[in-house]
Amino acid sequence: MKLLVTGGAGFIGSHFIHHWLEHHPDDALINLDKLTYAGNLMNLQDIEKDPRYTFVKGDIADRETVFSLVKEVDIVVNFAAETHVDRSVMGVEEFIRSNVLGTAVLLDAVKEYGKRMHHVSTDEVFGALGPEDPPFSEITPYAPRNPYSATKAASDHLVRAYYYTHGLQITISNCSNNYGTHMFPEKFMPLFICNLFEGKKVPVYGDGLQKRDWIWVDDHCRGIEAVIEKGKIGETYCFGGGGDIANIDVVKMMIELTGRDESFIEHVKDRAGHDRRYDVDYTKAKTELGWEPSVRLREGLSEMVRWYKNNPDWIEQCCSGAYQDYYKKQYEQR
Ligand code: NAD
Ligand code: TYD
Repeated sequence: MKLLVTGGAGFIGSHFIHHWLEHHPDDALINLDKLTYAGNLMNLQDIEKDPRYTFVKGDIADRETVFSLVKEVDIVVNFAAETHVDRSVMGVEEFIRSNVLGTAVLLDAVKEYGKRMHHVSTDEVFGALGPEDPPFSEITPYAPRNPYSATKAASDHLVRAYYYTHGLQITISNCSNNYGTHMFPEKFMPLFICNLFEGKKVPVYGDGLQKRDWIWVDDHCRGIEAVIEKGKIGETYCFGGGGDIANIDVVKMMIELTGRDESFIEHVKDRAGHDRRYDVDYTKAKTELGWEPSVRLREGLSEMVRWYKNNPDWIEQCCSGAYQDYYKKQYEQR
């Protein structure tokens, strides 16, 4: 089989590419990535010369590029997106272009050539849970509440609309917060780990009692693989890590694992429209795909802390250029 993976230079996409090539030795794979600030070819350095792997720098919203590549493959696996909620609060245009228009262009190409597409999405499309609400599942109505999740919801709706309207061979997965190695240090866990190593305070939004469900990135990649291999066309599958936890409790774990103390915690102004709680019920994935998460939070977090400690060059490369500008702006606005 030949795959077109979009956004493969990012966090989850690069883990997926490694996973797929390791477990499917006869397959070939094209990685189409625009290399935004979040795309990093260092993530794929070890497979650069693998004859089964090709990298194309390009935009999923560029019809010509997309049509020429989709024609060559059996399936598109769409990871490409703008993904950071805080950036979407500052401006949504790029999110609309990549997440909504980009997905539409991929769908048009998949339709034109009669191919299959798996669309990678987030549990954030379901909105925010109250303290006593049951976790999100495949039947939870969509209710996105921040600009990022609104664009992801729009892309999911388009994918499903192409299934009903044009009979496209699609599947969708909605996953909780991923964590793991190679995660860009603007997101909660890697930002906090890097700050703690550098002896800087960690900016906890508001009271820190917001809850998230955390899934180890490679568990997510196994889930996507299971959908590609065993999922039913037209269906959605939810993936989660096994239960929600308050941000402040995760912060305390990171503090312990980096050998710091709680004086490094700084409560800062809360994020606008901050969703209070996410959690995911993955019963459908378990019963229909035989999938379950395998890494517990403490175990994964220890691995992550070890990796960030041992990879200063990777961090250095991320923390330059566009990232620095963004970071400065964030702090100025606080
Ligand atoms: P990321 O920000 O680390 O990587 C995104 C990648 O997409 C980057 O390599 C970037 O260069 C590329 N990209 C962005 N716009 C593009 C465009 N127009 N054309 C081509 N490439 C483009 O993101 P991630 O955390 O790896 O997330 C991947 C996917 O998984 C996203 O669709 C995201 O919505 C979804 N998701 C993420 C999480 C999470 O916790 N990170 C959870 C659930 C779902
Ligand atoms: P994030 O990694 O941005 O993922 P998402 O908002 O998509 O869930 O944030 C995870 C949680 O951590 C979220 O509740 C916001 C919080 N957070 C902070 O408290 N401080 C920070 O500096 C960041 C980036 C996030």
